[in-house]
Amino acid sequence: MRLNFLPTKSGRRASRLFALLARAAFRLKESNSDSSWGAPAKLFHWLVAGLIFAQFWLGWLAASWRLSPTKLNLFVWHKSLGMVILALVLVRLLWRLANPTPALPADTPVWERAVARLSHALLYVVMIAMPITGWINNSAAGVPFSIFWWIPLPPLVSPDKHTAELAALAHFSLFIVFVALLVVHVGAALRHHFVKRDNVLTRMLPARRTPK
Ligand code: HEM
Repeated sequence: MRLNFLPTKSGRRASRLFALLARAAFRLKESNSDSSWGAPAKLFHWLVAGLIFAQFWLGWLAASWRLSPTKLNLFVWHKSLGMVILALVLVRLLWRLANPTPALPADTPVWERAVARLSHALLYVVMIAMPITGWINNSAAGVPFSIFWWIPLPPLVSPDKHTAELAALAHFSLFIVFVALLVVHVGAALRHHFVKRDNVLTRMLPARRTPK
C-alpha cells in the first residue's frame, strides 16, 4: 500500500480552505468560559450534529438505491458532505483546544466526569476517522472523485481491492461505534436535564449563556 499524500493542486486548494476556516473561527470573539459554552462552540456543535445526522441518512440512501446515475450522484453528495464535516471537525477541535471547557456541576461523581471526557474524546476520534476511512475506501477502489463535482480529491492510497474492503469494513464498524456513542451522549444530556435538573444541556442550547 503506497501513501499518496502529494502536494497536488487540489491538496493545496483544500489546505487553503482549511486555513481560511481556521482563521475565521479564531477571529470570533466569544470564547468559552469556565461555566458556559461560547457561540462558536455551540454553532460548531449543532452545525456538525445536524450535518452528521443528514450524512447518516444520505449514506443509507446512497447504499440502498438501485444502480443508476442517481445512486452515483447520491454518493457524490455523501462523500462531499463527509469532507465538509471533516474540515469543520478539525477547525472545531482547534477551537476546543484553544479554549477553556466549562466545568461539570460540582456534585458530578469522578466516574461520570471520566465517562464524559472519554466519550467526548471518542466522538472526535470517530468524527475524524469516519471520513478518512471513506476517503481511503474511495482511493483504494480507484474511483476518481471531486468534492461537489468541483474540487478534485487526491487519492490517499493506490488502488487495491483488499485495502478497499478493509476500509469499507472500518467505515461501517465506525458507524456502529458512532451510533452507540451517540446513544450514550444524548442519553447523558437528557439525564442531566430531566433527572439531575442541572444546566448542562441548556448551556449548550442557542442564546442561553449563563453569566460568567
Ligand atoms: C452527531 C451528533 C452529535 C455529536 C457528534 C456530538 C458531539 C459532542 C462533543 C464532541 C461534545 C464535547 C464538547 C465539544 O467538544 O464541543 C459535545 C457536547 C455536548 N453535547 Fe453533543 N453531539 C451530538 C449531538 C448532541 C445532541 C442531539 C444533544 C442533545 C440532546 C447533545 C448534547 C450535548 C451537550 C449538552 C454537550 C455539553 C456537555 C458539557 O457541557 O459537558 N449533543 N457533543
